[in-house]
Amino acid sequence: MLGQKILTLDLGTSSVRASLSVQKGDRFQFIIKSAPSRGIKNGNITNLASAKESLSSVLNSLKIESSVALPNEAYVIVPGGCTLGYQVEASIEFPGIKTISHNDVNVVKNKAKDELLRIKGQTVKSYYEVIHVVPQEFIVDSVDGIQNPIGRSGKKLTMKAFIVLASRSHVKTISDLLKELNLKLKGVVLQSFASSYGIRQPNSYFNNNLLLYIGAGNTEFIYFREDKPVLSRHLPFGSEDIIDFLIKKLKVSRTEAERLYKEYGSAYAFNVNKEEIIHINYGSRTIKVPKILIPALIHQKLKEIFKDIKSILSEENSDYLENLSGVYLTGGLSKLKDITVLAEKIFKAPVTVPSLSNSEIGDVALSPIVGVTNYIVSLTDRKKLSDIKEDLTKSYEKTGSFFASLWRFITDII
Ligand SMILES: Nc1ncnc2c1ncn2[C@@H]1O[C@H](COP(=O)(O)OP(=O)(O)OP(=O)(O)O)[C@@H](O)[C@H]1O
Ligand SMILES: [Mg+2]
Repeated sequence: MLGQKILTLDLGTSSVRASLSVQKGDRFQFIIKSAPSRGIKNGNITNLASAKESLSSVLNSLKIESSVALPNEAYVIVPGGCTLGYQVEASIEFPGIKTISHNDVNVVKNKAKDELLRIKGQTVKSYYEVIHVVPQEFIVDSVDGIQNPIGRSGKKLTMKAFIVLASRSHVKTISDLLKELNLKLKGVVLQSFASSYGIRQPNSYFNNNLLLYIGAGNTEFIYFREDKPVLSRHLPFGSEDIIDFLIKKLKVSRTEAERLYKEYGSAYAFNVNKEEIIHINYGSRTIKVPKILIPALIHQKLKEIFKDIKSILSEENSDYLENLSGVYLTGGLSKLKDITVLAEKIFKAPVTVPSLSNSEIGDVALSPIVGVTNYIVSLTDRKKLSDIKEDLTKSYEKTGSFFASLWRFITDII
């Protein structure tokens, strides 16, 4: 019998992707289709009709290739630029000693949400909605470091958490777009957060690690401590900005800039032979330049962005950089030649482009897509609460019941 089926959509700056992952035993098999992105810039939908066309074409290819019907609801990846992330702490006290239930966790979560929205004020409250509440730790009375407090007894429950908010208008636009394609929006997942799940192995423990996602239009990063996010930020930069920079500096056409990037692109100019000469095309004219020129321009741009990331980290907490034990680079730009060399020089820590948790998928640009499935699976982990969802309570309570198995059987066959 087939297990869970998860439909994930990624509306990226360069590509629109749709993935169907189907559970077979304790693993998931993926079918991933992609099409050039139209009407989407930095994750924002700038032209609804074009975005719909891209998405519709990619969904059709997925339907053709998959042997099972697609679910009628989808998870959608949201880019960091539409989100905000904060650390919060909230506590609730019980009249006497009590065994902590799902409901108590939901109450402390709602208190944390309300408290955050109160501190951030009316603007954030009106324009943003909570999409992730990732517990960092629970404290029951004086016992700290608890991953899942359900079933423990105490008088006071405290939760430290990382809360991610997403722009209401972005979520509404996505939901409307999906509706036009007869799909329901099941949930949204922050791109970099999804990416961190895409590279998780069973023994992964991110501590003082920086996860960096660099795509075609977005740079997003999350700093992890004790395996939990403590900071998430976004910079509007990606490979498209490198192409624009080449166009501006070399005064070439877009096609020529894309060719130069593809053929000679590299992030670390000092590794390039200074003697080598290449040709740059200007319509009917061609000029000869040293090959190092292209990597030098890319090097300059990437150095700026890595330095910006460093400044944000050190402004937030000087420990973040001092204790940095490693950087994971994901997203399409992490495939650029020598990007880890440059990143290591700047971050002064080991930098790796990690493999994905699903070893059959070799493309690190797909880390967010693969990560959404891992993230959904993590929601049912009983040892630690990875994200507190309203529907988690229901699925926890129903697991194992006759109706739950019947429902799973029905959803498998439709
Ligand atoms: N081998 C490579 N070398 C250099 N750059 C590459 C390579 N392969 C892909 N890229 C760059 O990665 C980009 C795509 O990255 P990705 O798929 O992560 O972006 P996206 O999801 O479409 O955009 P975003 O998430 O930023 O909105 C391409 O536009 C391309 O420039
Ligand atoms: Mg992307």
